[in-house]
Amino acid sequence: MGCFEIGALWLMVTMISIHAHTSADGIQAECLGNRVQFILSGSLSAGSPLELYAVNDTQTVLLTPHLAAQCGYTQKSDPWGNMIVSASIQSCYAENQGDKEFRVAMQFKLYEFPTLSEKVHEVFKFCSHTMTSREILCETNFMEVSVRNAIPEIKTAPVQQLPTVIPNLQLWKILLYTPEEKSFNKETLQAMGYNVQSSPTRLVMRSPYNMVETFVQNVDDVDMVVFKSVVLFRDRWMMTIVESAAACPINGASVVGQMIYWQVPLHITPLVSLEVEILEVHVGINGRRLTPEEMESRNYAVTFKESHVVVEIPIGAADGYYKSHVLEDQYHVSYTIEPMLELLWKEGEDETTYKVLFPITTPLTPWPPQVTDYTQPEQRVFDVLLGYFLPDVELLNITIGSELHTVSEIIIKGINLQEHSFPNDTKAFALQVHFSEPYVQIKMFRPDVRTYILDLVFGFVILPEHTAFSHSVVLEAPLADIVLPHAEGSCNEDSFNIYVKYGSTPSSQVKIKLGRLELNNTILQQYEHHSNETHFEIIVPFLAPVVAFESVQLSGIIGRIDVKMYDSLNNWNFREFSLACPFFVILSECFSNGTVTVVLPKLELFPHILPGELSLRDPSCKPSYSQDYFAYFLFGVTTCGTTRKFVEDTMIYENEITWKRDVLLPETVLPEQEYRFTVSCVYIANATQSMIFHAVSHFKKPHADAGNGELTVSLRLSKDVVFRLFYHDGDYPVLKFLKQPLYFEVGMDHFKDSRVAVVLENCWATLSKDKESKPRWSLIVDGCANPKDPEQTIFHPVMADDRVDIPDHFKRFEVKTFAFKNDESSESEDDALARRVFVHCDVVICHVENTAGGRCYKECPAAQNLVGSSSNRVRRSSGFSEEALQHVSIGPILLI
Ligand SMILES: *[C@@H]1O[C@H](CO)[C@@H](O)[C@H](O)[C@H]1NC(C)=O
Ligand SMILES: *[C@@H]1O[C@H](CO)[C@@H](O)[C@H](O)[C@H]1NC(C)=O
Ligand SMILES: *[C@@H]1O[C@H](CO)[C@@H](O)[C@H](O)[C@H]1NC(C)=O
Ligand SMILES: *[C@@H]1O[C@H](CO)[C@@H](O)[C@H](O)[C@H]1NC(C)=O
Ligand SMILES: *[C@@H]1O[C@H](CO)[C@@H](O)[C@H](O)[C@H]1NC(C)=O
Ligand SMILES: *[C@@H]1O[C@H](CO)[C@@H](O)[C@H](O)[C@H]1NC(C)=O
Ligand SMILES: *[C@@H]1O[C@H](CO)[C@@H](O)[C@H](O)[C@H]1NC(C)=O
Repeated sequence: MGCFEIGALWLMVTMISIHAHTSADGIQAECLGNRVQFILSGSLSAGSPLELYAVNDTQTVLLTPHLAAQCGYTQKSDPWGNMIVSASIQSCYAENQGDKEFRVAMQFKLYEFPTLSEKVHEVFKFCSHTMTSREILCETNFMEVSVRNAIPEIKTAPVQQLPTVIPNLQLWKILLYTPEEKSFNKETLQAMGYNVQSSPTRLVMRSPYNMVETFVQNVDDVDMVVFKSVVLFRDRWMMTIVESAAACPINGASVVGQMIYWQVPLHITPLVSLEVEILEVHVGINGRRLTPEEMESRNYAVTFKESHVVVEIPIGAADGYYKSHVLEDQYHVSYTIEPMLELLWKEGEDETTYKVLFPITTPLTPWPPQVTDYTQPEQRVFDVLLGYFLPDVELLNITIGSELHTVSEIIIKGINLQEHSFPNDTKAFALQVHFSEPYVQIKMFRPDVRTYILDLVFGFVILPEHTAFSHSVVLEAPLADIVLPHAEGSCNEDSFNIYVKYGSTPSSQVKIKLGRLELNNTILQQYEHHSNETHFEIIVPFLAPVVAFESVQLSGIIGRIDVKMYDSLNNWNFREFSLACPFFVILSECFSNGTVTVVLPKLELFPHILPGELSLRDPSCKPSYSQDYFAYFLFGVTTCGTTRKFVEDTMIYENEITWKRDVLLPETVLPEQEYRFTVSCVYIANATQSMIFHAVSHFKKPHADAGNGELTVSLRLSKDVVFRLFYHDGDYPVLKFLKQPLYFEVGMDHFKDSRVAVVLENCWATLSKDKESKPRWSLIVDGCANPKDPEQTIFHPVMADDRVDIPDHFKRFEVKTFAFKNDESSESEDDALARRVFVHCDVVICHVENTAGGRCYKECPAAQNLVGSSSNRVRRSSGFSEEALQHVSIGPILLI
């Protein structure tokens, strides 16, 4: 398709000014085929109020929008503030010279700020244009059709030399099709807002859109406004009819993805008969045709579908522009472009130029502002970029925290606020706020991290409409600039030492709980403590109420303090630990004058027992002194129900401290727990030996089923040589000094058959629960004391008493614990000083009648049996069945 050059040559560009101060620099004029375009640059008008006048030799007429549409003028502005005025070359005030040359003149009257003084810019433009038979122009505010007024020449008979008669045809009547035919005269139509201009050569009809008499017709899926008329010219005796029709599309544009598709029917049926030949198709933007090269470089395309020509324009093409909008307080943009399509078709001999200017605005698209957070917390400055906005967006104010600051206030305050513009015609706002500013909040979601928070609301307006919108930004910068508080503890001889370093947490925020007691000033006064801004130290005596006693042993007590360090503001736990310390204290003393003293701390295991409610065997012997957490007893060995007993050359006084239940316990307390401590004073010969104090928390477990009549043996550790009190399961680990001997008993309880005897086969000690583990110390080998060290194990006789019915059912032996120091192990003495041992025995149950094998009878070397009696010459049966061999273990026993 070749390009059809319409006379669009520059004929002349002249600017005149009718006022001395008029400057022409800011106004461009350009001929665009059958249109002239004037651009008053935004820099010239600078937003001043403006009036537009059409000018011809005799008249200067103010163009109201209504008059502009009637007379063929269009006015619009672009986002850069330029005023664009276009006029048809056949507009009302244009001067037409022979349908070839046209002069269009305009006047721009500016009321300049601030005085609103008038400033007039006048400009005119000569354009030459070769008209086709019919020219249809679809402007944005009017439709115009110009047709050749083919008034016939009337030739008289050739014989007579008379001049050709040109009839004086006058416009008589106009029939408008709405689509029904209605008849008007020219004046009526003009008054209605139409424009009718006729010259001897051409008829120009112009209609604004939205006139009552125009109608919409669908042409190949595109709605078109049709303005159709028949104009009757009449002389006295002849009449000419000129048909004029314009049809302009009012839709046909669609957006798919990032493309705009604009379709225009190729055969605009209200205008053409069926046989038309399309000669040319041109696409332009803003009224200016584009060359194929320009089209390609901008990614525009024209395609032909069956009955349409389709113009494709990528959204964002440089010829259009974006515009900001606000929808539900959200930032949106639209894109607007004004493509132009020109068609030239031939119908018989007549050519029609069809030109449509069709502004397209895409639907609003949300353009959520992006926050780019450049903050580097270590720099302690918030650094944010909020973008991207179109140039028509202006930042008015920022609400920082809860304070609103206008942009100028922010700048005065010295806060760094910058507007950045980008080559893609967007802009963004950069803001920097130091962490130390008062509106920066600090929150702590973790104990070791401060999170700096900045709440911002940016207030914008869109110009020129001044539509306001806002965008909230919350910036968070976590910074690990915290040194956490640290707490540790250590054991002193008679106290706990708790040591705290506050780190970077304010000391007022660091709270310490000892047990269930939160330290406050009142409580602190009761303890020795040292503190300064950074450190805190407290010394808690072992008998303090906050100490929990886990167990009482012969050698002392094990006290535990639970330490919790936390943040009182956020309730974070900084550190929680328990410190258990052994305190080697003498809890009981036996004086030579017969006075016994006992200090008994409240035990954690018996939370319901108040020390003041404890008593000796005589319930009237209450503590001499007690507090919530300990009781102090002082009594004479002849009082309070103390018993006395002679065993060989020793005299043993014994009493018990118990708790007599006189109220019903709450259900949560296990009924089988029994509180019983035995106090013994052993006097040997004429010397008073210092106390022997057995402190045991005694559990009476629910009685275990003894089994289906089987012979079960157990291994027990006696508290002393008396073999009356034994350690129970709950007492382990049992603490013993190395110099103290261990007294073991192996026996069958609750078994009445006197024909059965318990015989020890082997006994040994290990360091772990596993009886096979190494190292191992042999205590009894083959029924006798270990022959390698016979001094170490001593058998004790068993006599019948209220507990022992049948002495043959029991065996007792004593082990000197220093034996573990330098036996078969290669460990150093130091290691051996604090040793955990387990004792194991293989036990044979012999039946007196089963003498056949002789294994139940064995003699040990007499030397071993210093204490033992003939009963130790056990009878052994070698043929004893395997089932009767039992294994028993006990432990751990701590030897220190
Ligand atoms: C000026 O325009 C008016 C209105 O169209 C017209 O009537 C008049 O003839 C024009 N004057 C000249 C000199 O063209
Ligand atoms: C505009 O340019 C900036 C900077 O190059 C870029 O980050 C932004 O995404 C661009 N925006 C659009 C809409 O292209
Ligand atoms: C701040 O900006 C918002 C949003 O544009 C606007 O509505 C408000 O009037 C502005 N306030 C002031 C005090 O400028
Ligand atoms: C300290 O704590 C104790 C026990 O919780 C409480 O009785 C006392 O009133 C507290 N003292 C102060 C000053 O808060
Ligand atoms: C606070 O006390 C600790 C020891 O408790 C000491 O090491 C530190 O130097 C003291 N700090 C000040 C500021 O006195
Ligand atoms: C017994 O001796 C202790 C320690 O010497 C002493 O405190 C106590 O008063 C004496 N008791 C009597 C009754 O003399
Ligand atoms: C009994 O005491 C006296 C004098 O205090 C002492 O000489 C004697 O050795 C003591 N007897 C025993 C068996 O310790």
